[in-house]
Amino acid sequence: MELLDGKFLAKAIKEELKEKIAGYKAQGWRAPHLCAILVGEDGASQTYVASKERDCKELGMDSTVLKFPAYISEDELLGEIEKVNINKNIDGLIVQMPVPEHISSLKVMNHIDPSKDVDGFHPMNVGMMFKGLDAFLPATPYGIMMMLERYKIETSGKHAVIIGRSDIVGKPMAALLMQNSNPGNCTVTVCHSRTKNLKELCLQADIIVAALGRPEFLKGDMVKEGAVVIDVGITRVDAENERGYVIKGDVAYDEVAPKSSYITPVPGGVGLMTRIGLLQNTLKAYEWHMKG
Ligand code: GUN
Repeated sequence: MELLDGKFLAKAIKEELKEKIAGYKAQGWRAPHLCAILVGEDGASQTYVASKERDCKELGMDSTVLKFPAYISEDELLGEIEKVNINKNIDGLIVQMPVPEHISSLKVMNHIDPSKDVDGFHPMNVGMMFKGLDAFLPATPYGIMMMLERYKIETSGKHAVIIGRSDIVGKPMAALLMQNSNPGNCTVTVCHSRTKNLKELCLQADIIVAALGRPEFLKGDMVKEGAVVIDVGITRVDAENERGYVIKGDVAYDEVAPKSSYITPVPGGVGLMTRIGLLQNTLKAYEWHMKG
């Protein structure tokens, strides 16, 4: 069993990005600039946005966080998005999800300028991704693809089973793994809450992506010997420690790891690569904007 080490990989890629950005600045370009919009006081969202700010700073990127109260109206929020859309000094915009219930997340995603949509949530980017065209890829699937690529994991002709069909992980992951590309060229099965023979399907998988958000769902007896196991889960589970919780993945690591050829740990796996996905997208947006 070999670890797919997100910590090691994220650090290496960050160094590459840092160098690239320093090079652009040395030729007189301004810094890349990511803007995050945060609505309300959700603790997890605040933590995610703070880590994105830290990442930007570390790489020499500018970042702005626009905070709005949970009672902001949908129209007002769309107006704020519009201001960022037309701001030539901002390359990437994310609106941290979830937004309060009275605001349509669909309207929010559709309102972001596709050339600044570094989350890859706008239908134009989703469509381009599905067609295999150059687009912003959603950060988590993008991070996983980078991991497969850098660890030179053979995916061609392999059977990939994805557990979970969310718009931000399961669906795009399926699109990317089935693409005629490297990594890619998998035969893909997408499982979800209505799938009847989930265990049998998982036992046929050469690659499993567990992205359903249920702690330690994937057990040892659901995994074929030698499978590649990607754990996307990051659920906070109550614990008697200082923080009051521990982070659990969707994979029962102790049972699954001995059977797998490669596995991502939690923490230290996919989560860190997701952050790299966003940074890569921000740099891509910046290059597009600066080169016109
Ligand atoms: N909430 C949870 N994950 C994400 C993400 O990738 N992007 C945004 N904008 N919000 C999220």
